[in-house]
Amino acid sequence: MKVIIKNDEQIEGIRQSCRLASQTLDYLTPLIKEGINTQEINDLADKFITDHGAKSASLGYQGFPKSICTSLNDVVCHGIPSSKVVLKKGDIINVDVTTILDGFYGDTSRMFLIEPVTDEARKLVTETKNALMKAIEKLAPNQYLNHCVGRVIEDYVKNFGYASVQSLTGHGVGLEFHEDPSVFHFNLGFKDVLLKSGMIFTIEPMINQSNNFRIKIDSDDGWTVRTVDGALSAQWEHTVLITDKGAEILTK
Ligand code: MF3
Ligand code: CO
Ligand code: CO
Repeated sequence: MKVIIKNDEQIEGIRQSCRLASQTLDYLTPLIKEGINTQEINDLADKFITDHGAKSASLGYQGFPKSICTSLNDVVCHGIPSSKVVLKKGDIINVDVTTILDGFYGDTSRMFLIEPVTDEARKLVTETKNALMKAIEKLAPNQYLNHCVGRVIEDYVKNFGYASVQSLTGHGVGLEFHEDPSVFHFNLGFKDVLLKSGMIFTIEPMINQSNNFRIKIDSDDGWTVRTVDGALSAQWEHTVLITDKGAEILTK
């Protein structure tokens, strides 16, 4: 495993790309409502990204056919935008945007609620974001990655009877889409990566509204990841930089 320590020039480039990814989600926010289909969201996102001199990292990545991921209800992640998936009241959806700007990668995702949603769905979405933010608050140089992230997230979501998906992880990011280290969202029970200033990685917990962390991949498209039991799943993602004092969220 080789965890890259980014230099100041790289950090600034990645910061710009992260800002654009985040701005893409800001732009989409008022448009993600009842009646829109996920292909339309994809096309709006792709135009926004290219209009800003960047491109989608997802499009063509290992054959992924679209520019963003749109993961609805029991879809954990890697949902493929489609004109057949039309948003309706009560849905929860994750939109995941990864940009390449001047060669640098920024990766972020958020949840959107198609109101009215049930109190239970709202709580899952809120507590998944809280779990992510609790992990980010723990980050600091000379701390162990899993002690700050996986342990904290697993312990937190267990309080609600939720399960944190184990077979998909966050990742180093910036010069490539997926770099070392893998960022586990559950307690490994051993010391993994010692954090150092200049490391950049994502944290992107996928939290299931059941006590089952297991997932399955749709065999017809090879991408769509679902909960095995049909439970709802939520995900939020930030790209973070380890600093001398703690961490900076680059995808704010
Ligand atoms: N953006 C996702 C992540 O957070 C990866 C999507 S890969 C794709 O790592 F090919 F599905 F786009
Ligand atoms: Co990611
Ligand atoms: Co992502």
